Amino acid sequence: MHSYKSALNDLFGTALSSVAGIQNSNANVITSSRPEFGDYQVNGVMSVAKQLKTNPREIAARVIAEVDLNAHPFIAKMEIAGPGFINVHLSNEKILERGNGLLTPNSLLIEKSDEPQTVVVDYSSPNLAKEMHVGHLRGTIIGDCLARVLEKTGHCVIRQNHVGDWGTQFGMLISYMKEVANDADTGPKHLADLEVFYREAKTRFDEDAEFAIIARAAVVKLQSGEQEYLDAWEKFINESLTHCQAVYDTLNVTLTREHLAAESFYNDELSKIMSGLKSANLLEESNGAKVVFLPEFVGKEGNPLPVIIQKSDGGFLYATTDLAAVKYRSFSLNADRALYVVDARQSLHFQQVFSVAEKAGFSSDKISLEHVAYGTMMGKDGRPFKTRSGDTIKLVELLDEAVKRALYLVSEKNPTLDEAKRQEIAKEVGISAVKYSDLSKNRTSDYVFDWASMLSFEGNTAPYLLYAYARIKSIIRKSTIPTASYNIESCNELEERNLLVKLLQYPEIVYAVASDSYPNHLCNYLYELAGLFMRFYEACPILKEDAAIRDSRLAICALTADTLKQGLDLLGINTLEQM
Ligand code: ARG
Repeated sequence: MHSYKSALNDLFGTALSSVAGIQNSNANVITSSRPEFGDYQVNGVMSVAKQLKTNPREIAARVIAEVDLNAHPFIAKMEIAGPGFINVHLSNEKILERGNGLLTPNSLLIEKSDEPQTVVVDYSSPNLAKEMHVGHLRGTIIGDCLARVLEKTGHCVIRQNHVGDWGTQFGMLISYMKEVANDADTGPKHLADLEVFYREAKTRFDEDAEFAIIARAAVVKLQSGEQEYLDAWEKFINESLTHCQAVYDTLNVTLTREHLAAESFYNDELSKIMSGLKSANLLEESNGAKVVFLPEFVGKEGNPLPVIIQKSDGGFLYATTDLAAVKYRSFSLNADRALYVVDARQSLHFQQVFSVAEKAGFSSDKISLEHVAYGTMMGKDGRPFKTRSGDTIKLVELLDEAVKRALYLVSEKNPTLDEAKRQEIAKEVGISAVKYSDLSKNRTSDYVFDWASMLSFEGNTAPYLLYAYARIKSIIRKSTIPTASYNIESCNELEERNLLVKLLQYPEIVYAVASDSYPNHLCNYLYELAGLFMRFYEACPILKEDAAIRDSRLAICALTADTLKQGLDLLGINTLEQM
């Protein structure tokens, strides 16, 4: 059994189908909102009864009669509630059994999927002309969380960092690089700050017509493969990737160079994309450019919107490369799903690319192409987050500040801890706070970046969860029983049972994130779990109790700690044994 929810959906779905005579009826099982309603609630009866125009309570009674409790001993009892819900109570004995199963050494906490898929996760994907800025944070950490979750649930994940490394800007950058390389003492030092370097190059380009001509010629030479230009470009890209890698390492993001599938990687495929579109009769001329018109995409006045494939000067576009990427992911990587973790503002782009790809046969029949869109990180002024002077904020600088602020907090809370230890804790707390505050928001909404709330030790924050984990670990450390012999013997107290049932629901949440790509559900779950633990801890003494109860409760502590640790790890957050 993967999870109670999936087992109940199967069981009651089958029963409902047979009672109603409707194939694949949806039992629509949800977790109960209150313990007195049982552990789960079957909500699907009502809509089926509506279809059949019969009394839902009557259908519910027949569904209950259909379910053989002897064959499914994990259910203790079922009862009809309200207009026709079915409340399901789990068996305490089976809850204990399942909980103890999870406590066995090397337990996975989550079973692997029976139908493992190959899933491409395209995320982070910055433009290499500049350094990563705050706008890259969301995609980078949401994508990384999804990659971890999919892997944990048994899928084969292929990370793809679709970095921008081939636009016209690179002509300007390498021309400027060549120029400064000649002035003796500077050279590579310039590239230490790509932001400054870009700004200087752009100023040269805007202010010096001769330089602009050189820069434009450089793009052509680069794209036609002249070695000298390729070398300079490679040097620049290499430097820029080193900057990215530093950010990934600080963020505890799993991307490395082996996950690169840069725009330039698709160069040789672009002419095939052209011919593919031509033979599918999709390509048209419009003002000298080669475009595809799709009837379903029209502008404000109802006139068709073109997807530009090739500019009049022969240059290819962002969409062209993405079509090649769809083809590669479909037929070379043989993916079942491809997730594009990209800003919501690119949603029209992806709808168009997916639609053209399908029409032209660049996507396979089986692949599911999904734009995992996210909103914008806003400043307190309600505009996209920037510095006071309106510049974009480098991601490294934001993360440095997070660690500094966390150090201040940790030092205040724990002044006696030695400096090195405080630094170590501050690093985890600061980075986790930034990550968690983002991951805990519904990804499709914009949100306001706020230091005070993300670094608070109260509420749905990383510091709160890290602290809860460290506290549970300190309780466990105070006992002398070896962890391997932990066993949960009873869940008679309400708080004890609530916590245990919540622990057993962990896989449901992780499976949901794997299919729907909303990490905030995992955050909410962990927050509620920590809350239930605190209630359990207040209501149920542990170390003061007799050995049997004490050990059983310690076992629940251990399972809570394991679950928190793994859940946070799926968010890309490291736990601390001590805080
Ligand atoms: N480099 C792009 C940008 O910075 C994001 C690329 C996302 N992935 C893709 N396959 N288009 O906006």
